[in-house]
Amino acid sequence: MATAGDFAIELQQIGTRFGSQVVHDGLDLAVRRGEILGLAGGSGSGKSVLLREMIGLQRPTTGRVMIFGADLATLTPPQALELRRRWGVMFQRGGLFGALNVRRNVGLPLREHSDLGGAQIGRLAEFRIAQTGLPPDAGLKLPDELSGGMLKRAALARAIALSPELLFLDEPTSGLDPASAAGVHELILRTHALTRPSIVIVSHDLDLLWQVCDRVAVLGEGRVLALDAMAALARHEHPTVRAYFSDQRRARASAAALDGVAA
Ligand SMILES: Nc1ncnc2c1ncn2[C@@H]1O[C@H](COP(=O)(O)OP(=O)(O)OP(=O)(O)O)[C@@H](O)[C@H]1O
Ligand SMILES: [Mg+2]
Repeated sequence: MATAGDFAIELQQIGTRFGSQVVHDGLDLAVRRGEILGLAGGSGSGKSVLLREMIGLQRPTTGRVMIFGADLATLTPPQALELRRRWGVMFQRGGLFGALNVRRNVGLPLREHSDLGGAQIGRLAEFRIAQTGLPPDAGLKLPDELSGGMLKRAALARAIALSPELLFLDEPTSGLDPASAAGVHELILRTHALTRPSIVIVSHDLDLLWQVCDRVAVLGEGRVLALDAMAALARHEHPTVRAYFSDQRRARASAAALDGVAA
């Protein structure tokens, strides 16, 4: 029998509304400690909003968000700060500060949440940058000077800067070519193998969902329609779940065909 301590995150009866639009309607989801959980579902199904609610950037209209057993809505500011030290986030649009070079961007969580001095922060940021497979000179570049794949790696380097117990990644491979995407998959798995953080990944990338995630939750109709390992989801009966995966397979096949034409 699972107990509260087994979960990194518990979402209970989440409701989210924007005006008359209902995005989530009684959504329940529990993320186990140490697992890599994928969040899939059609565009607009509320994946990014749910992620923002998990990190307290947005309050659900109703329901509770529990992180490591603590209700986000009842935390004092020092408790909230303490919790933020324990997670790392990579936003859908990267979220790096355009005016800061990569090394300073990666060093930001360390400046905010540790007592390390400037030189130590610089060294640790360089280490994280190297860990993500970026070339040594990438640290001195501005985000605008990086390719899409490099930008994703830099954002990941910042998300893992503090060795978080919990990692949130919003579409870490969208817009990448297959080789760069495979590099990011490997990077996530390597990061996980080191300290076994719980990882929540929003993604439509079928290879990532199959190869990286322990379980995948499919969002739709305001809730989690299915939650299981991909092998089981691939045989799922729910028509929306079936339609979602067959659409993704079709999109991937046509992207591959277009690559063939371009080659
Ligand atoms: N701050 C906001 N104000 C009003 N509506 C919002 C806001 N944020 C999100 N929405 C709406 O909520 C719905 C869910 O948005 P969300 O970004 O979570 O989708 P998603 O599942 O991440 O989609 P995608 O796969 O395209 O990234 C969308 O209809 C969006 O327009
Ligand atoms: Mg999104």
